[in-house]
Amino acid sequence: MDRFVRNFIIVSIIYLGLSSIMGIAMLWKQSLMSLKFVHSHLNMLGWVSMMIYGVGYHVLPRFSGRPLKHPKMGELQFWTANAGLIGMLLFYSLNISAPKAAYSTASVAFGGLEVFSIALFFYNMLATLLPGGQH
Ligand code: HEM
Ligand code: HEM
Repeated sequence: MDRFVRNFIIVSIIYLGLSSIMGIAMLWKQSLMSLKFVHSHLNMLGWVSMMIYGVGYHVLPRFSGRPLKHPKMGELQFWTANAGLIGMLLFYSLNISAPKAAYSTASVAFGGLEVFSIALFFYNMLATLLPGGQH
């Protein structure tokens, strides 16, 4: 198993743990509901998407009988997906607790990094799986 594949699976489980604790905290304290976006995206982009990236990178090329076309791009996607998610949610939370234009700009910029990481997965998977991507 590639190192970045293993890392995707490990961090996805950590995000599940964090977001579940956060979900309980939100049930406990109504005021934390203002961070619902953080909980839902720790889950959807952290737990669900990263588990799918990890399993997808490992299994889908094997199903199609072709190696992953750009393993280095997979490694880059690991770092950009995590930096994008953590940065987006951190600056979103700071902006909720003490609103500042710089926080919301930073949150959008890290969201852009997250979208870039999604584009890397999209490209790498299609380049591997589509017949023209065979090497
Ligand atoms: C112990 C585990 C969890 C707890 C205690 C929990 C708790 C909560 C709470 C209190 C809310 C706010 C609901 C509201 O708006 O009234 C919420 C929203 C949400 N949760 Fe969780 N959650 C848990 C796990 C998960 C998991 C595993 C996922 C996804 C795989 C998830 C996805 C979401 C999403 C997408 C929302 C936003 C839903 C909406 O806006 O209507 N949660 N959760
Ligand atoms: C770069 C990627 C993404 C960005 C920037 C993003 C951004 C957003 C924003 C701004 C909202 C509205 C939050 C609010 O009402 O306060 C939202 C809601 C939501 N998004 Fe995303 N999203 C992304 C990816 C995803 C993905 C991949 C999923 C599912 C797999 C997802 C599931 C949801 C759900 C279920 C809601 C409604 C629950 C909530 O209000 O938190 N998002 N998203």
